[in-house]
Amino acid sequence: MEYTPAEGLLERYSGRERDALLPVLWDFQTAYGHINPAMVRAISHTLRVPESDIYGVIQFYSLFHDQPVGETVIRVCTSPSCALAGADRVLDDLCARLGVRHDETTRDGRYTVTDTTCLGLCDHAPAALISRRGVGETTFANAADVEALLENPENAHPPTVGGDPLVLLAGVNDGRPQSLAEYGDYAALRHAVFGLTPEGVIAEIEASDLIGRGGAAFPTGTKWKFTRQALGQPHYVVCNADESEPGTFKDRVLMECRPHLLLEGMALAGYAVGAQRGYLFVRGEYPDAARRIEAAIAEALTARLLGDGIMGSSFSFHVEIRRGAGAYICGEETALFEAIEGKRGFPRVKPPFPTTHGLFHKPTAINNVETLSAVPAIVLHGSDWFKQWGTEKSAGSKLVSVSGHVRRPGVYEIAPGLSLRRLLDDFCGGVVGSLQAVLMGGAAGTFLRPDELDVPLTFEDLRAIGSTFGSGAVMVFNQTVDLRDVLRRLGRFFQHESCGKCFPCQLGTQRQLEILERAAGPLPGDSRRLQDIGATMTEASLCGLGQTAALAVLSAMKKWPELFVT
Ligand SMILES: Cc1cc2nc3c(=O)[nH]c(=O)nc-3n(C[C@H](O)[C@H](O)[C@H](O)COP(=O)(O)O)c2cc1C
Ligand code: SF4
Repeated sequence: MEYTPAEGLLERYSGRERDALLPVLWDFQTAYGHINPAMVRAISHTLRVPESDIYGVIQFYSLFHDQPVGETVIRVCTSPSCALAGADRVLDDLCARLGVRHDETTRDGRYTVTDTTCLGLCDHAPAALISRRGVGETTFANAADVEALLENPENAHPPTVGGDPLVLLAGVNDGRPQSLAEYGDYAALRHAVFGLTPEGVIAEIEASDLIGRGGAAFPTGTKWKFTRQALGQPHYVVCNADESEPGTFKDRVLMECRPHLLLEGMALAGYAVGAQRGYLFVRGEYPDAARRIEAAIAEALTARLLGDGIMGSSFSFHVEIRRGAGAYICGEETALFEAIEGKRGFPRVKPPFPTTHGLFHKPTAINNVETLSAVPAIVLHGSDWFKQWGTEKSAGSKLVSVSGHVRRPGVYEIAPGLSLRRLLDDFCGGVVGSLQAVLMGGAAGTFLRPDELDVPLTFEDLRAIGSTFGSGAVMVFNQTVDLRDVLRRLGRFFQHESCGKCFPCQLGTQRQLEILERAAGPLPGDSRRLQDIGATMTEASLCGLGQTAALAVLSAMKKWPELFVT
């Protein structure tokens, strides 16, 4: 399909600047299936961004194309949980059925078939993402039936949720989004705006000992205090909804099922740190979450729970959504700022930290979806109420995403301190088959053996045994699984997602993968080579991606040295 600028896609972006680049590219990608030179030229004129920069951004993301692809692009997830559920076979069957190879387009131009990294649908493995020209993205879950995948690309996949207590997951059952009427009229925000100073809100969050749920476990109250105190205007709130860590899907469930809880948490963060604008950066592979949040923002604006003069007060707060386009690195907070600003998602050198130099280099509080979703109840019920669950260093309830060989994969809310064994047995219905290994914290995590199942699930207890809670991913593998294959998939993931800005990670992820993929098995000395590469990446990489890209491999070497011997 040819593009002529007269078609008007760009009209609503007139006067906008570079930070509108991602939304503009999404509009073109959706309408035409790819972004050609004429379109790039037109975008360049409208936003005043050099064409070469626009090509750089298009090529940075896996969901954007600068060459024609099929009318429908089917991406099958081949990350570990989907692999266990037969993703490779689905991909092969799909290719055979359409007469193409991986990454090829059918002769009639109708389909392109390819693989992809984790889609955050590990509880419905195997999963696929379908992009249809003129329509956009949909996700397809339990994609084992190739004919259904081709014919009926709309399918519901309500999440399995459970746990004790049910605070964050309260009201999540059939997978529908909670309406405003069901959720309530932002009582915590009302309490804050009319009854607490911003400093009072921060003091309550500090007293609650809430620590970030995005993986780095930084105290939220401290982050907000620093942001509020930082000089420079304006201040921003950013919600990190990139959730691209393989095995993690809790934020998807929160956004799809409790969008108002998150929006109220963002508004409270805005009130606390002195921000009038919040951005929600959601990964492009979560189309349903983006649509539901968009609808919830509209509902909240109509009810004056967001926007100018919230509830008749002098506090104003606006939320804008930015869809990512397929890049794990954009979950790293400074890469995410670059992405919102319309650049390639390269991490910045820290310090300075986001609290003083964040989005647009202004003071910014960036938090994970779950962190922000925990805030309304803390403000409403108080810090002591929150601390009734968990431990001193892991306060409050916490979500975990469990996938792989358990009877009921899903998102579970737990009181930290619960043992891994009880999580798997009591909440997830037990392990399917005989347990071999548990990967804690996702691709950037570490393995546990069956004799380590009694570890209490807290940040401190997991750290004490050399493991990690990370973002709460728990991937379970039984004895039928070839752990070398799991490591190869993780190695491919890091090699593919390394942004290439620094050499230890750019080269290290490449060398690590080459060793893991040796067709004839490991060579003598491979253990030492992997250790060297791992140590270099961990010590010398610029950001958390490279610093954690060897963790799973190094932990597997410690626990199962026989895997690395010829
Ligand atoms: C490679 C990489 C990917 C990350 N992905 C995410 C993500 O998807 N979601 C998230 O909340 N944090 C992610 N983080 C952590 C963020 O940089 C940041 O610490 C977090 O958003 C802060 O929020 P919190 O304090 O509420 O946890 C990632 C970090 C790295 C290094
Ligand atoms: S560690 Fe990897 S992902 Fe991070 S900046 Fe360096 S190359 Fe990029």
